[in-house]
Amino acid sequence: MGEYSGWQFHGVDDEAFFEALKAFIDSGFDRSAAVSLRTTRSVFRFLIGNKEIYVKRYFMNTMKHRIQTLFGCNKAQRSCQTASILLAKDVATPRPICLLWRGAQYFSTEYVLVSQGIADSISLRRFVHDHLLCEHPDPRIKRNLIHRFAAFMAHMHQSGIYHGDFTANNILLSPASNPLDFKIYLIDLDAIRSVHRISTRRRVKNLDEIGRNFMDLDKLTLHDRMIFLKYYLHHFCGKKAGVRGLFHTVRKRTRHRLQKNRKNSVG
Ligand SMILES: Nc1ncnc2c1ncn2[C@@H]1O[C@H](COP(=O)(O)OP(=O)(O)OP(=O)(O)O)[C@@H](O)[C@H]1O
Ligand SMILES: [Mg+2]
Repeated sequence: MGEYSGWQFHGVDDEAFFEALKAFIDSGFDRSAAVSLRTTRSVFRFLIGNKEIYVKRYFMNTMKHRIQTLFGCNKAQRSCQTASILLAKDVATPRPICLLWRGAQYFSTEYVLVSQGIADSISLRRFVHDHLLCEHPDPRIKRNLIHRFAAFMAHMHQSGIYHGDFTANNILLSPASNPLDFKIYLIDLDAIRSVHRISTRRRVKNLDEIGRNFMDLDKLTLHDRMIFLKYYLHHFCGKKAGVRGLFHTVRKRTRHRLQKNRKNSVG
């Protein structure tokens, strides 16, 4: 790990932890620990003692990346900054432990973001698959999911947080062992923006995405959607008035996006 420079965030001053991390990095990142492997980024999971750790490795090799790095806002840097903002605003996300970087081949730079693992967690995609798309879904689980997500999104938007990549893989629920009582965590933070006041257009975009991506369309009836928006508005501004208007705006966007996706997949 010698040639890496870095910052340490979280209060892990455990020598053994950094020794194990160093061994993992020096081994050239054990591919058997990979959760996702892509050309520009990979995610690895490994255990140090009983601590679960996630290591996200980014390769920055374009001019755009170099310019972003100069301004301190490439994806890895932004993810770290965003994690601190989210935690300060009480929006749950894994704690960053350290950010390391080094010059790799030619002009490319490698960044390594090490974060705390969320124990016993599953992605929202898995959760929906396991609990809503099964043969006999429990209606309490769906109701609970709708309520919790409505409250979570209202809190997120009230805090000025907008997620530009709000997919079901980028949301973790923990503990997975209790489908009626879990905490919601945001991961993959580089597409998140924190603003003073979030615009209606951005809120509608996130609300449309939750309907399209997170819950199978057949499993989410119009009534469910209305209930979801009612709860959302109640938590967001303490009122339920305006729910019909919001419902139609979100529905219009959803229809438009579905048509566009269909056209793209046919074409
Ligand atoms: N801190 C964490 N705790 C628990 N699980 C995690 C953590 N970070 C990542 N994961 C798991 O690794 C997966 C991939 O992580 P991440 O979303 O950061 O990478 P990605 O390359 O963008 O993958 P994808 O395109 O599938 O979203 C997540 O869906 C999640 O299951
Ligand atoms: Mg992701």
